Amino acid sequence: MIEYRNVCKNYGDRKIVKDLSFTVEDGQFAVLIGPSGCGKTTTLKMLNRLIQSDGGEILLDGKNINDINAEELRTHIGYVIQQIGLFPNMTVEQNITVVPRLLKWDKERCNKRVRELLALVDMDYDTYAKKYPNELSGGQQQRVGVLRALAAEPPVILMDEPFGALDPITRDALQDEVKNLQKRLHKTIIFVTHDMNEAIKMADVILFMSDGELLQKASPEEMLRAPANDTVREFMGKHVSQGVAGQDNIPCGEIMRKNVAKVSDTWRTLECVQLMSSREIDSLVVVDDSDRYLGVVTIEGIKARGKAGASVRNILETTVPTVRTDTLAKEAFATLDSTKARYLVVLDKDDRAVGIITRTSMSKALAYMVWGGDAV
Ligand SMILES: Nc1ncnc2c1ncn2[C@@H]1O[C@H](COP(=O)(O)OP(=O)(O)O)[C@@H](O)[C@H]1O
Ligand SMILES: [Mg+2]
Repeated sequence: MIEYRNVCKNYGDRKIVKDLSFTVEDGQFAVLIGPSGCGKTTTLKMLNRLIQSDGGEILLDGKNINDINAEELRTHIGYVIQQIGLFPNMTVEQNITVVPRLLKWDKERCNKRVRELLALVDMDYDTYAKKYPNELSGGQQQRVGVLRALAAEPPVILMDEPFGALDPITRDALQDEVKNLQKRLHKTIIFVTHDMNEAIKMADVILFMSDGELLQKASPEEMLRAPANDTVREFMGKHVSQGVAGQDNIPCGEIMRKNVAKVSDTWRTLECVQLMSSREIDSLVVVDDSDRYLGVVTIEGIKARGKAGASVRNILETTVPTVRTDTLAKEAFATLDSTKARYLVVLDKDDRAVGIITRTSMSKALAYMVWGGDAV
């Protein structure tokens, strides 16, 4: 458990963090959000003692962090930041093993760990381990940054606007991956962002900061439903991106993502793998020559059953749930939840795949359901 008790930080006579108190439970995904300059980074860095607090105390599992040796503390706390995170003169493997090597893990153990970690994010060891950061896409670099933070199995991970510089599709994919990793590995995460969509999507609990103070700590649903004051309300209103008006009856067609990665069923598995890898996604929607929906092809499916020269027709999966453009969004969300599917395919009346519904679509629509059209 992480506990901030009346924590303060001043620069000169400017109070940057003011009497901040909150707790984050083990295994919780806490998102620290607030306007730029409100003190988020400072708050985070006080936990791994990159910045020394001026008052109050921070406890990690009941122990005051000032009583823990700073290096030891940092090996217990993974840290991911935007861009500049990776060492440009080190390979992927060397970057990932920075902390394990500091901890004097032997070569074999380091190598085994790198293989495990790359597998977690579907990056092939032989392809990527010896590459340098500048040979990777932005999304791959940030994945490696996340793996590096996980390498020595710290129970706590701090992430400071880690996906801020990525394009929206890559960002969306990485958000999903990190959320899934956290669920699987049961890490305690404090994730800083100024993007309310990201916060709603990722958080178990949102900590809303403004001008060095904590204004509200609540689940995403609760914060949307009952913002603590006008500052929180206004910030969420500005940041939850606009989509549709209306209350409870938004159809899927209005909130779906339209840039579906589609291929024809005559495509070969190898071409599909190349497209997935260039767009950093792990499945494609497959259609016939009249653009009618047939199923999806996934990277797992190709690995398990694909032959390089064979067409994807043979490994189509038809288990992804489908909805219609006029299906109510709330029904789609119920399906997403009950089936654990990662997305739904939206079909128009002619059975063409015209969109997908993801959990991000959900968070946006949630805001509209709560507020209606005029609040944002
Ligand atoms: N070393 C420093 N000296 C003086 N002021 C600082 C220093 N570091 C941060 N600040 C100020 O503290 C405030 C909070 O900064 P920061 O924690 O980086 O905010 P955020 O991450 O929310 O954008 C800002 O006004 C910033 O200018
Ligand atoms: Mg910051």
